[in-house]
Amino acid sequence: MLTGSLVTLRPIEPDDYPTLSNYMNDVELRLLVGGTPPLPSPQASVAALYERRRQDPDEVNFAITVNDQAGKLIGHCGLFRHDHVAHTAEVGVTIGDRAYWGRGYGREVVSVLVEYAFQVRNLRKVHLSVLATNERAIRAYVAAGFAEEGRRRRHVWNDGAYTDVVLMGRFRDDDH
Ligand SMILES: CC(C)(COP(=O)(O)OP(=O)(O)OC[C@H]1O[C@@H](n2cnc3c(N)ncnc32)[C@H](O)[C@@H]1OP(=O)(O)O)[C@@H](O)C(=O)NCCC(=O)NCCS
Repeated sequence: MLTGSLVTLRPIEPDDYPTLSNYMNDVELRLLVGGTPPLPSPQASVAALYERRRQDPDEVNFAITVNDQAGKLIGHCGLFRHDHVAHTAEVGVTIGDRAYWGRGYGREVVSVLVEYAFQVRNLRKVHLSVLATNERAIRAYVAAGFAEEGRRRRHVWNDGAYTDVVLMGRFRDDDH
């Protein structure tokens, strides 16, 4: 549906649920993403989660697929928490397949998603929060035009330590 040079973002289909369920139960991955602590998630509840998300008007979710690997599924991404007054939304990206980390896929996913947010959904700002310890993610977001806007000090418990959360945002070029 949304195509970059490396990836295509397409709808999430029921056939994707087993892979998405594996990501949901991957403790290392969940700790990098942050948020609620990893919990065992049966495939049926992961499927129910994505069905609920599909019907939520304040969310848009995409599967991330690789263009030169016959559309191999490597992760998911989306826009969440649309603020229809301020015209903002939160960006989320998870590449679950480690073979695709650190090769430029993440920044392209974010760029394609941001282009969709600004040009198609007429948002004026996108934002996200990321663990300060997740250097790879922060560098990918900076490469996709995000800037740090603030930092919540020792705000979450993550993998054995209280950790800072970095708040980042990107404005549409004509909105400052
Ligand atoms: C975060 C994520 C989306 C980034 O995508 P990606 O394809 O790995 O990122 P990119 O290759 O586009 O960019 C990675 C950047 O981090 C750097 N990097 C790679 N490995 C790194 C590491 N171990 N530590 C620090 N920086 C690293 C790369 O050099 C690159 O920066 P540079 O261009 O300034 O040199 C992806 O790694 C991912 O989904 N990780 C697991 C889940 C997660 O962390 N999600 C984000 C939650 S907010």
